[in-house]
Amino acid sequence: MDEFRYQSGSLFCEGVAMHDLAQAFGTPCYVYSASTLRQHFTRLSTAFAPVDPLICYSVKCCSNLAILRILIECGAGMDVVSGGEIFRALRAGGDPKNFVYAGVGKSDQEIRYALQQRIGLFNVESEMEFETLSRIAHETGMSTCAALRVNPDVDPKTHRYTTTGKRESKFGVDLERALAFFDAYGHDPLVALRGIHLHIGSPVYSTDPYLESVRKALALIDKLESKGFHVDTLDLGGGFGADYESDQSPLASDYARVIVPLLQARVDAGLRIILEPGRSIAANAGVLLTKVEYVKKSGDRNFAICDAGMHTLLRPSHYGAFHFVWPTDPVGALVPPRRARELVMAGLERTEVVGPLCETGDFIAEDRMLPPLDRGDFLAVFTAGAYGMAMASRYNSHPLPAEVLVDGDHFRLIRERETYDDLVRHEHR
Ligand code: LLP
Repeated sequence: MDEFRYQSGSLFCEGVAMHDLAQAFGTPCYVYSASTLRQHFTRLSTAFAPVDPLICYSVKCCSNLAILRILIECGAGMDVVSGGEIFRALRAGGDPKNFVYAGVGKSDQEIRYALQQRIGLFNVESEMEFETLSRIAHETGMSTCAALRVNPDVDPKTHRYTTTGKRESKFGVDLERALAFFDAYGHDPLVALRGIHLHIGSPVYSTDPYLESVRKALALIDKLESKGFHVDTLDLGGGFGADYESDQSPLASDYARVIVPLLQARVDAGLRIILEPGRSIAANAGVLLTKVEYVKKSGDRNFAICDAGMHTLLRPSHYGAFHFVWPTDPVGALVPPRRARELVMAGLERTEVVGPLCETGDFIAEDRMLPPLDRGDFLAVFTAGAYGMAMASRYNSHPLPAEVLVDGDHFRLIRERETYDDLVRHEHR
């Protein structure tokens, strides 16, 4: 799962006490485990080794340069969705040949930039986008490769905000339109259309939707090949789960057991596979540290009011997402036996963990059984590495938090906490 563990009643990230990091760098603060990132990448690449995929880490989920660099060193390509992400991935030392660029709303400026940087693959999401890409390629005389993002109409059984592969989603084009798409654009002299891309949603805790969507994609590839189009790349997107609770998610090997057999013969015949995992690599590799500023009672409810809130970690309030929360140094050494919604342990109190913002929807954890909390305690919000800092905002003019990377017994600041000056840096009076 990850390298965040309690030892003698205190939470550690690898060899470093989280309490010490909170004191050294202040809170709120995101702490990442380099070893967890590497392990998760390696598990995916080992599990899928028989089909030798290009694993493009999904930059959107956690985009700090130091995190990208670790994954690039592991051999990852980059899944990018904006000019800004291309810029980051290049800054981190990524090879643009190994970048795949998705996104329903690529601007002309972004397309031009991606062409200039010679990124490996455009995942095209509409007819109009292909025409725009082709026009800019012709204007600039630059060639590139493209995959068509199709919408396989498969239900990933996840939150409706992150369901992306069902009919009537804004992503990709319907499967039935794919042939006409290749007929119209499959012979462009500068934009070589020769891949199929799909991404069904996130997180997907069952392997069945992958089975269904890969089968549909392969049937489409057969149909295209029978019409004389050569498809040499299949990009399966991301969406693998993470352990918000202990052992909640299938393992990389469980997903691979279902997906690899479907692909093996095709790969042996020359098909290239791309994966775009984000959450399954980064979620468990990050913990958000926050300090309890105040405790109080309102009616029958105990509130712990923290310095992190929906501006630091949006997922609980935006998706109703569950993040396990526990003090870094619980009173009475009340260490959780596992991460779960309901823990039955003596000495816990029902608590609302909320943020400092002026919104009732500003919470981190609702209705949780927790050890007694007091002013100054540090809380760890687990599985916060993916879509945590990446979705943080400055709402209520709170500067963005610091980010720290732990590697064994070493740690370093990988993003400084913003200052009040940073808040107004780009404004004009
Ligand atoms: N590829 C494409 C085209 C995607 O849209 C995404 C995620 C991924 C790959 C990576 O998916 P992953 O492996 O991380 O599940 N903010 C939401 C998640 C949004 C996912 C957006 N697309 C959350 O906090 O749950």
